[in-house]
Amino acid sequence: NWNMKNFINDQIELIKKQVGDKKVLLALSGGVDSSVVAALLIKAIGSQLTCVHVNHGLMRKDESESVVRVFRDELKANLVYVDASERFLSKLAGVADPEAKRKIIGAEFIRVFEEEARKLDGIEFLGQGTIYPDVVESGTKTAKSVKSHHNVGGLPEDLQFKLVEPLYQLFKDEVRACGIELGLPHSMVYRQPFPGPGLGVRCLGAITKERLEAVREADAILREEFANAGLDKKVWQYFTVVPDFKSVGVRDNARTFEYPVIIRAINTVDAMTATIEELDWPILHKITNRILAEVKNVNRVCYDLSPKPNATIEWE
Ligand code: XMP
Repeated sequence: NWNMKNFINDQIELIKKQVGDKKVLLALSGGVDSSVVAALLIKAIGSQLTCVHVNHGLMRKDESESVVRVFRDELKANLVYVDASERFLSKLAGVADPEAKRKIIGAEFIRVFEEEARKLDGIEFLGQGTIYPDVVESGTKTAKSVKSHHNVGGLPEDLQFKLVEPLYQLFKDEVRACGIELGLPHSMVYRQPFPGPGLGVRCLGAITKERLEAVREADAILREEFANAGLDKKVWQYFTVVPDFKSVGVRDNARTFEYPVIIRAINTVDAMTATIEELDWPILHKITNRILAEVKNVNRVCYDLSPKPNATIEWE
């Protein structure tokens, strides 16, 4: 009979059989799928697994830290943590076009991962968090989005690995159940979707450190208040955006000229269309007041009421 315990035990046997005494490499973004695959591989082959976490500097507040905490400190994984923030930011300097930004982030991600892979000897397998919807989608070549998405494909010829994809039969809710069964924290397993290019597409136009910091801090406040209100369990995706223009404001009787923060909270089934979550005024006020009090270089907060279509979920 099929249950998650049996599934995990079967997969552990299959992974051991497939991999033998060889080594496996895994790009661990901290997203649901890669985290669950990591936990499963750790259980199956332990020290034969090396995880690489690339921090592109566009992660949310405390996100890379929690990947290190959970996988290196608690699950005792071999984890290579690469802080590539400066490298990504310098490649992105002055680049304002959304698709150009995505391409740079995707290409640089593969380059950093490839460099790390070359430093490791004797890797034969690449672990991947492929899940059933990915299999169906690439089989039928449906266009997922009007925006270019990236994951770790496109490695050079001499770095071709055999793939280990133990989650390929599972739907997202089953992947989550698997993660919980494997002991991953609830916050990691029920994490809202986060785009590969991260805060890079929420810090609009050419990214600056100042605005990146603003969007990261505002996002942390929004997430904290959503969690306090229980909205994190209700709303599909919620985040902040910082555009690349300023407006005039006043603080302590003096004129300011600073950035706005935009709040976005949406519900969807498949991300192809989306409606906004109708947030209550008290929580909007609370988040607004905290952002204005705590986030530097910000003097205004706006709330995006646009559904998809005509907007998209992200602003870029
Ligand atoms: P849009 O903005 O196209 O987003 O309505 C639909 C869903 O996809 C996510 N998204 C991305 N995910 N790489 C990703 O991995 C990307 O470049 C990317 N762009 C958008 C978005 O967060 C939403 O959940």
